[in-house]
Amino acid sequence: MNWIPFALKAIDCGVDGLVVEGGEGGGFKNPSPVSTMVLLPLIRSRVDVPIIAAGGIADGLSMAGAFAMGAEGVQMGTRMLSCLESPVHNNWKQAVVAAKETDTVFLNQASRPALRALRTQRTEDLLPLCVVLRMPVPVDRSRRGRVKTSA
Ligand SMILES: Cc1cc2nc3c(=O)[nH]c(=O)nc-3n(C[C@H](O)[C@H](O)[C@H](O)COP(=O)(O)O)c2cc1C
Repeated sequence: MNWIPFALKAIDCGVDGLVVEGGEGGGFKNPSPVSTMVLLPLIRSRVDVPIIAAGGIADGLSMAGAFAMGAEGVQMGTRMLSCLESPVHNNWKQAVVAAKETDTVFLNQASRPALRALRTQRTEDLLPLCVVLRMPVPVDRSRRGRVKTSA
């Protein structure tokens, strides 16, 4: 998979800018993830439109890194999920905040949608499987407090 043609095609179609998200990001992903640090400067070197960087950006340092690699803005998901205003249950927020750098898993890599999720007993059980993920399930679970981390 080569992402440059997709970026150029989007620009040909008239987009004002691009969200460039690496495989570090939480949620649905391409099954062949490329890290933000590789993807962002690559796309930056080929396009002139504004870029919003995403994937693994969670604080001022990582935001500054994205700016240094050519982004004009950043999009944060996991960090926002765990903020005070988020409707997600506090147990999930605490599990995200307590997570180590190895505490995510990349699910469904052999199919679509691939998904980066918090490492829990359930997501570890799903790791070897190719599963059809139904959106309402993770959303419902996120609002309840049952978190069985594998640690
Ligand atoms: C729990 C969760 C659910 C998400 N759901 C969606 C979604 O439905 N559609 C979408 O385009 N991106 C979704 N995202 C991706 C975010 O919009 C954002 O691009 C991503 O989280 C950025 O990476 P980060 O998690 O490292 O900050 C989701 C992210 C998380 C953490």
